[in-house]
Amino acid sequence: MSGFPFEIHARDGAARIGVLRTPRGEVRTPAFMPVGTAGTVKALTVEQVASTGSDIILGNTYHLMLRPGGERMARLGGLHRFMRWDKPILTDSGGYQVMSLSQLRKLDAEGVTFRSHVDGAQHRLTPEVAIQIQADQIGADIVMQLDECPALPAPRADVQKAMELSLRWAERCKRAFGARDAQNLFAIVQGGTDAVLRRQSAESLVSEGFDGYAIGGLAVGEGHDAMLATLDVTTPCLPQERPRYLMGVGKPIDIVESVARGIDMFDCVLPTRSGRHGQAWTDAGPLNIKNARFAEDLTPVDESIDCPASRDYSKAYLHHLFKAGELLGQVLLSWHNVAYYQHLMQRLRDSIAAQNLDDFRAAFRARLTPEVE
Ligand code: GUN
Repeated sequence: MSGFPFEIHARDGAARIGVLRTPRGEVRTPAFMPVGTAGTVKALTVEQVASTGSDIILGNTYHLMLRPGGERMARLGGLHRFMRWDKPILTDSGGYQVMSLSQLRKLDAEGVTFRSHVDGAQHRLTPEVAIQIQADQIGADIVMQLDECPALPAPRADVQKAMELSLRWAERCKRAFGARDAQNLFAIVQGGTDAVLRRQSAESLVSEGFDGYAIGGLAVGEGHDAMLATLDVTTPCLPQERPRYLMGVGKPIDIVESVARGIDMFDCVLPTRSGRHGQAWTDAGPLNIKNARFAEDLTPVDESIDCPASRDYSKAYLHHLFKAGELLGQVLLSWHNVAYYQHLMQRLRDSIAAQNLDDFRAAFRARLTPEVE
């Protein structure tokens, strides 16, 4: 496998900036992918998502295979056309969501059988089915292998078993994916917080050869420091010349520290989920916009961000929208939060280009204050 052209333009320590060139456009890295689980980045139009500087979004096989269904998705012309997003899409493979969302799931060596959380119907995901849905029916630009992500803490034997199963599924995904020019397949490193298992997982996947490498199984309750320690043992095992994607991460501080450790891609529901719940992300941490201290605060959330939701609306107005249960509040804070994350990625890319990432990290940490209720 060779993968989409990935050019690294500058480095600062282990961090790098680059461009992943896909047939649907360039992804500037380090990149943040807003989560568009069920064919929508929740509460936002594709025009709003694009306006934040998002180059790529994430979709979920699990949700789309249940509704509208893989075959219907194919008849509708694939996800890009269906949702009117013509830039790159990466899809997660479904295993992770099966484990967290579905009922009565049963994992075996071949795949996973589960009942839909929507209507109770029985479905089965195997590595081959996960590839078919993502690559052929959804039409994702970047396809993820099917993997097993154990909930932590778990006994080492269970973490090892899940890691080994994920390696076998990676091989089967690679075979099912075959040779494609216009789509890429990424493998997922597992192994919990165990350095030996992580190295073994990464080295096996790298020797097999994939277009990119994700680090899964993190941000599942192990904590910030254990996550960073795991990155420290894993990223050195991954090839410099291919993209590295840390799945499901994270808070802004997690992203800053992971970029410093050589991660190129991220996804997280946090900006959109917390936006729907009245939280506005800022360099000082999340603001709870429903707090009474904002009732007459006519300043915007962050006037340095080139997004109407960040720059042009007052905190008092956002506070009012949430207090009144108005939908626009959820739209505006989701929009601001995605714009905040993309502004952060741009500042990280600029810091790497200027070789002053360590100063940016220190200043970022210093400004973070706990939310005052
Ligand atoms: N999203 C967050 N973590 C994971 C993981 O370990 N595997 C997959 N497939 N998706 C994830």
